[in-house]
Amino acid sequence: MMIERVGLNDLEQLIKIEKKVFREDAFSRETIKKLILQNTLFLKIEDDNLSNKIIGFVIAIKDDEDRVNIINFVIQKKFQKQGYGSLLLKKALERINRIKGVKRIILNVKTSNVSAIDLYKKFNFRIVGKIEQYYRQKESAYLMELKI
Ligand SMILES: CC(C)(COP(=O)(O)OP(=O)(O)OC[C@H]1O[C@@H](n2cnc3c(N)ncnc32)[C@H](O)[C@@H]1OP(=O)(O)O)[C@@H](O)C(=O)NCCC(=O)NCCS
Repeated sequence: MMIERVGLNDLEQLIKIEKKVFREDAFSRETIKKLILQNTLFLKIEDDNLSNKIIGFVIAIKDDEDRVNIINFVIQKKFQKQGYGSLLLKKALERINRIKGVKRIILNVKTSNVSAIDLYKKFNFRIVGKIEQYYRQKESAYLMELKI
């Protein structure tokens, strides 16, 4: 098991996973490329036994002086519920903790996405707001925050 920064070599795999998981809400090729090229915290988790097939990834951007925003977090369906998401989130939070000046980490999650919400709660994220009709299909989102 390896957790590493993504590179442009990973672009095609990342696009495929995005489309499969998020469908019409998926980030475009251009957006993903830009995020890889920018100095973003963009980590992948892969299995060495599967010839470095990407199991999942997390993207976090520093969008304010004291704030990091986790804008994407995915584990492929067949690998879910085996602890990979927790492992990846833990590593991402460790790296974010090392960024100077960061006092809080935020993210948006669909109000119906109970398993993701539960996972964030385990890492001490708290629901601090609700945004109505945040997603394309008019679903609402919770704003969750972790103070560090
Ligand atoms: C949210 C997501 C990233 C979580 O990844 P994951 O790898 O399934 O997470 P984990 O396996 O670490 O934990 C999930 C659950 O599995 C349980 N679990 C972990 N290891 C387990 C194991 N070996 N056996 C059984 N259950 C296990 C955890 O306790 C946790 O339970 P909970 O739902 O009660 O909290 C994943 O479900 C996903 O990609 N979803 C689709 C995209 C998405 O919604 N992303 C979030 C957008 S904000």
